Amino acid sequence: MGDPSSRSRRREGGKVLVTGGCGFIGSAVIRHLIRDKGAEVVNLDLLTYAATPEAIESVAQSDRYAFVKGDIRDRSLVASLLEEHEPDTVMHLAAESHVDRSIDGPSTFLETNIMGTFTLLEAVRAFDAGRSSRRRFHHISTDEVFGSLSPTDAPFTETSPYQPNSPYSASKAASDHLVRAWGETYGLDVVTSNCSNNYGPWQFPEKMIPVMTIAAVEARPLPVYGTGENVRDWLHVEDHARALALVMEKGRTGQTYAIGGNAERRNIDVVRAICAAMDDLRPEGAPHDRLITFVTDRPGHDLRYAIDPEFVRKELGWEPQETFESGLKQTLRWYLDNQEWWLGLAEKARTGARLGLAAGS
Ligand SMILES: NC(=O)c1ccc[n+]([C@@H]2O[C@H](COP(=O)([O-])OP(=O)(O)OC[C@H]3O[C@@H](n4cnc5c(N)ncnc54)[C@H](O)[C@@H]3O)[C@@H](O)[C@H]2O)c1
Repeated sequence: MGDPSSRSRRREGGKVLVTGGCGFIGSAVIRHLIRDKGAEVVNLDLLTYAATPEAIESVAQSDRYAFVKGDIRDRSLVASLLEEHEPDTVMHLAAESHVDRSIDGPSTFLETNIMGTFTLLEAVRAFDAGRSSRRRFHHISTDEVFGSLSPTDAPFTETSPYQPNSPYSASKAASDHLVRAWGETYGLDVVTSNCSNNYGPWQFPEKMIPVMTIAAVEARPLPVYGTGENVRDWLHVEDHARALALVMEKGRTGQTYAIGGNAERRNIDVVRAICAAMDDLRPEGAPHDRLITFVTDRPGHDLRYAIDPEFVRKELGWEPQETFESGLKQTLRWYLDNQEWWLGLAEKARTGARLGLAAGS
C-alpha cells in the first residue's frame, strides 16, 4: 500500500490548496503553514455558518495567502483553481462537522462530505492526467468513522474496521472510502488522517468545550448529555495542525494515519475540569460545578472513542506539545480574552431549539 519514494520528494512548505480553511481546524492549519512552514496557501471555503474568517486574520495579509469563496462541489471552480495555482497538495478539510446537526438534517452532510469529496477527487484526477507530477490529496477525517468502543476495547488504529453510527460519521466514512478507491483505481497520490476530538481557540460555540465554557462564564446551566459517561480522546487543535503538516509532507501514499492525544476523558470529567479551571480564572463565579445539568442524551450516542497514535509518532516523529490540562487552561483563557468573538454567536445558538433530538422526538 505504501510508496516510500513519495516520502522524500515532498519539500517543506510548497503550494497548498486548503478546503474549509475558515473552519476551526482548517484555520489552525493555515496559520501553521504560513507562519511556520513558509507555504503558499489558497483557501477555498464556502463561508457556511461554521466559518470563522477572523481566525486567519493574523496571516491573511501574507503575500503567500489567497482566499476564494466557493463550494467544493463546484467542479468548474475547483478545476480553475487547480489550473491557476497548480498546487502540490490539496488538503481537504471542508465538511459539515456537527453530529447533532447531522441527526436533524443529514442531506447537507451527504452532499458536502460525500459529493464534495467526490468532486475534488475528480477534479484532481482530471488535472493530473497527462502531467508528469501528481498532486497529493490529503483527506482529513475523524475517528468517529470507526464507531464506538466498549470500556475495555483497545483504542482505534489505522487498521480498525469502519462502523459509523451517525449520519455525520457515515458521510465521513463514505468520503474516506472514495479517497482510498481513487488512490487504488486511478493512482491518485492520496493520504488520509483520522483524528480524535479537537479543542482550542476559535472553536464554534456549538461543540462541547466552548458550549460549557461559555455557559460557565454566563452562569447558565452546563448541559451534559445523558449521564456524562461517554469517553472522548482530546487533542489540541494546534497539535493536530502540526501532525497534518507532517502527514502532508512525509506521509506515505495510500496510507492512513490515526492521530490522537492519548487523553481519554469522560465528558463529565471534562466538564468538571472546565469548572475547576474556571474557579481559578473567575473566582467570582465559583463554584462553577453547581451549574452542571444532565439533559436528554443524543440518540445513537457513541460510548467511547480512543486513538492509539503510535504509528504516526514512530513513522513521522510527531509528538503533541500540549497535555490536556495545559491545553484546556490555555483554551479557557482564550475564550475569556475573546468574548467579543463568541458573544453574538453564542446568543444565536441559545435562541435556537436543542439540536440532535430528531430521531427521538
Ligand atoms: N472538530 C473536530 O474535533 C474534528 C476531529 C477530527 C476530524 N475532523 C474533521 O476535520 C475537518 C474540519 O473540521 P472543523 O471542526 O474544522 O470543521 P468546521 O465545521 O469548523 O469547519 C468547516 C469549514 O468548511 C467550510 N465548508 C463547509 N461546506 C463547504 C463547502 N461545500 N465548500 C467549501 N467549504 C465548505 C465551512 O465554511 C467551514 O469553514 C472536517 O472534515 C472534520 O470532519 C474534525
